[in-house]
Amino acid sequence: MKIGIVGCGFVGATAAYAMVMRGVGRKIVMVDLNRDRARAEAADISHAVPFAHALEVTAGEYEDLNGASLVVIAAGVGQKPGESRLQLLERNAAVFRSVIPAVLKHAGEAVLLVATNPVDIMTHLAAALARDFRIPRSRIIGTGTTLDTARFRSLLSNALGIDPRHVHAHVVGEHGDSEVLGWSLVTVGGMPLETFAKRRSLPLHPDQIASIDHQVRHAAYKIIAGKQATYYGIGSAIANVADVILNDRRSILTLCTPLVDCEGVGNVTLSLPHLIGGSGILETFPPTLDERERRALRESAQIVRNSIESIGM
Ligand code: 2OP
Repeated sequence: MKIGIVGCGFVGATAAYAMVMRGVGRKIVMVDLNRDRARAEAADISHAVPFAHALEVTAGEYEDLNGASLVVIAAGVGQKPGESRLQLLERNAAVFRSVIPAVLKHAGEAVLLVATNPVDIMTHLAAALARDFRIPRSRIIGTGTTLDTARFRSLLSNALGIDPRHVHAHVVGEHGDSEVLGWSLVTVGGMPLETFAKRRSLPLHPDQIASIDHQVRHAAYKIIAGKQATYYGIGSAIANVADVILNDRRSILTLCTPLVDCEGVGNVTLSLPHLIGGSGILETFPPTLDERERRALRESAQIVRNSIESIGM
């Protein structure tokens, strides 16, 4: 029940904190190039343990990841002023080329959960690097659109006045501007969205639908404009995935993983609903989207594929 977190910036540290609050695993090892930062975060988070769950939180080196069931990769750099997305991608790709082999050398049995952005492309790169270690594809996953799916469900639950646990909805595709909200497949308490909304006399107008779509797609931009980064949402999403994997919960989550094909686009990494258990991805369920959504998913896949090609993969 050991979890490694590589990269102790806001996202890595918040994920560790969320795991302590939730009681996921028994031991968290935090690794960072900046050892002082890792030690400080581990100490600070471990002081929350008496108020939450009995986890051991320590700073460590790559070799301390030995025996981990899950390693979260939150390492990477942020965009510098004036830097293009591609330049950021190239810098983070360089970070991954040293971090992923170091992790896999010591934690060859772990599921790898990539959270570094752009997450689809970083997961694709991690999977390519993992091939040298003969790690099964099912054990390399990225946080993908798990958070976008949570944002979608939460906005729908507010609009309908119902517990989000009874709203089933998914965001698929790129974790980014081209993501696809699967409106045609939303169900609430087992009823199609439209049926439920009519029954409750809460019909969703096209402008409300457009507003929810916009809020989900632009959530990160809005938060970053206000506080430079997002970390509570993604930190909680990571803790949830950790809980599902460590406890073999068999949840259906929209994580990203390399796909042989998505809507005619080959060798691409993006999010679809997957059955997740202790060994990672157990099965993929390509959703039966309507024609417009399928077209949007194809476009999204092509956008990710182009970015993957831009770093020579
Ligand atoms: C988010 O969606 C920026 O990927 C981050 O919150």
